[in-house]
Amino acid sequence: MSSKFHNKILLGVTGGIAAYKSADLVRRLRDAGAEVRVVMSPGALAFITPLTFQAVSGNPVHTQLLDEAAEAGMGHIELARWADQVLVAPATANFIARLAQGLADDLLSTICLATTAPVALAPAMNQKMWSHPATCANCATLELRGVRLIGPASGAQACGETGPGRMVEPSELVKVLATLRESVLAGRHVLVTAGPTYEDIDPVRFIGNRSSGRMGFAIAQAARDAGARVSLVAGPVALETPPGVERTDVRSAREMRDVALDLAVSADVFISVAAVADYRPARPAAQKLKKGLPKQKIELVANPDIVAEVAALEHGPLTVGFAAETEKLKEHALQKLSRKSLDMIAANRVGQAGSGFDSDQNEILLITPSGEQNLGKGSKRKLAQLLIEAVASRLKDEEFENRSDKNNRPATGN
Ligand code: C5P
Repeated sequence: MSSKFHNKILLGVTGGIAAYKSADLVRRLRDAGAEVRVVMSPGALAFITPLTFQAVSGNPVHTQLLDEAAEAGMGHIELARWADQVLVAPATANFIARLAQGLADDLLSTICLATTAPVALAPAMNQKMWSHPATCANCATLELRGVRLIGPASGAQACGETGPGRMVEPSELVKVLATLRESVLAGRHVLVTAGPTYEDIDPVRFIGNRSSGRMGFAIAQAARDAGARVSLVAGPVALETPPGVERTDVRSAREMRDVALDLAVSADVFISVAAVADYRPARPAAQKLKKGLPKQKIELVANPDIVAEVAALEHGPLTVGFAAETEKLKEHALQKLSRKSLDMIAANRVGQAGSGFDSDQNEILLITPSGEQNLGKGSKRKLAQLLIEAVASRLKDEEFENRSDKNNRPATGN
């Protein structure tokens, strides 16, 4: 897993009092090996001078969108292309609102629209401004678009109030930036199913299972962190939606199938983590079943196999299944891989302490038709990241194979 430091960081500074800390931030970023170019908003100029940033960054500072001298050298498009990472610190409420609206009326906002580099913001503002519904909505919009928010921190504020809204300290910002993953799934759409399904017996009883949804949610989060658009179809679970993930809640296997099939058509990857009930009661009772009858029989019928249906789609996504097994882990997983025509299967042992259902830990063996990779033991979060890396590299290989297929196609002669 790479955690390389982004080499070329474009630091945007907007007009908040925390701007004085940004000079220290530049120094720390450079110490960590980054090349830094600073772009200041008009508001930032009221707090700190370009000369300070020029001195600490060792580069000219950019302040104007329409600047003849800059256009000839580092104009907004060049700066947008130059950056490996854009970080705006401090990011004021005003800047966040303008970015959420897609405005491009100054250099920094224009660069943020023009760049393909990941954009991170370190918000800094009065605590009431931070918790205002307008700011919350703007942040949610930006997160949905893949902008990363770092902080804010909580504590004493320059305005004399106490609460959330302080810019995260420069030393911490450098640490967070260094751990930001490369966006290996940028531009991809990943569909994940998670949790159990409930199959109703009568209005108060159902057949369910012990899946907590944690593995699936961790995978959705890891895919999001890797830059993908993520659709999460969740059975009944008590978990918060990871930021930036589009979630649809369902109850039964058939509901999950309908939503998943709809979304699978536009997905690049389908990761089927849900513990879908294989059977459902054939005729759920309309009224609560009464006890006291000598014998109750519940007739079961098979549910649709969602992952097999997706894997059978003609131009379907790369399809990854999960095999939760209590015994003969590899043997059963291999059978599922081939029976369901999957591209990959993540085999995990359940029914023992320290992994599987209802645990934060897991152990995964990843199997493809051509080999296997042991992801080992670890937190579900960590394993989710490893799985996403494996998926991203499989997608790359596939693209490469398709390309070489095309290149090797015999000439048609016309
Ligand atoms: O055969 P089994 O149910 O153990 O296979 C597990 C895999 O199949 C998981 O990826 C699970 O999400 C998926 N599955 C499914 N629809 C079903 C049953 C399982 O998508 N009805």
